[in-house]
Amino acid sequence: MPSPDAIASTETPRNASHKPVRVIAVASGKGGVGKTSVSVNLSLALANAGQRTLLLDTDLGLANVDVMLGLSPRFTLADVMAGRCELADTVLEGPGGLWVVPSASGKRHMAELSAREHVGLVHAISQLDLPIDAMVVDTAAGIADGVLTFCQAAQDVIVVVCDEPASVTDAYALIKVLSRERGVNRVQVLSNQVAHPAEGRQLFDKLERVTSRFLDVTLSYLGAIPRDEWLRRAVQRQEAVVEAFPSSPSALAFREIARRASQWQAPAGPRGHVEFFLERLVSAPARSAAA
Ligand SMILES: Nc1ncnc2c1ncn2[C@@H]1O[C@H](COP(=O)(O)OP(=O)(O)O)[C@@H](O)[C@H]1O
Ligand SMILES: [Mg+2]
Repeated sequence: MPSPDAIASTETPRNASHKPVRVIAVASGKGGVGKTSVSVNLSLALANAGQRTLLLDTDLGLANVDVMLGLSPRFTLADVMAGRCELADTVLEGPGGLWVVPSASGKRHMAELSAREHVGLVHAISQLDLPIDAMVVDTAAGIADGVLTFCQAAQDVIVVVCDEPASVTDAYALIKVLSRERGVNRVQVLSNQVAHPAEGRQLFDKLERVTSRFLDVTLSYLGAIPRDEWLRRAVQRQEAVVEAFPSSPSALAFREIARRASQWQAPAGPRGHVEFFLERLVSAPARSAAA
């Protein structure tokens, strides 16, 4: 695999007429708070709103984007990492024209991949020749190198929290390493499984109080997804709630989040395609993973 610097110097702009791709990483620190639910429904809501969207599952340990969407992958990211296929071979078409790159459960965890392999993977993604407007990256729990690398390479990071003490603590730990070691200076906070709207804001305030004291990072409150039995039911049916139950409370909230995400400042630069994903990675100020 080429070194990051070699990639940076050999990369030439392609598809310069394309709009830059918006890359959104979804992370949380703690597992089970709703990263995959958010990634699946946000990407589908974006696709339904007319944005050509790719959903990338980077959780090689507990991958379940394909399970949540009822897809049967022939190849996964694990096959790409093992050299059995090209990244392009893994791309599936999901509901609503959403493109999906599935991962594989129970395979090597991202934490076990070397920094070089992460960069190689990001490079392979940057070479994917799909005409996309947005890419949503579902990440693994924890603060493993791979999670940090994908967050660093994205333009926007959504950190999902829910009302459990460990969730806020782990979100803080994640934001701390992103900010101190990876040069991430702005984070979107999304509260999930809230019992009422005020709870979402309270979770944000709690996190904001500590980050503003100790870290040089700007948190924005993206909103809240209610705890919703329809979402659970959709998971059981292996469908996204925005598809299966479009008028459920969580589906309405996901559409609103997608609307807000679409209004974020457009990615800078005239470059097309996903190449900037790599550029971000190699040009970020602090880049221990890419070193
Ligand atoms: N807003 C919600 N309302 C109800 N249940 C939810 C909600 N978000 C997540 N869940 C439940 O929590 C489970 C774990 O969510 P998941 O998205 O897989 O979390 P993560 O990817 O962070 O591990 C889901 O299978 C679903 O049953
Ligand atoms: Mg998950």
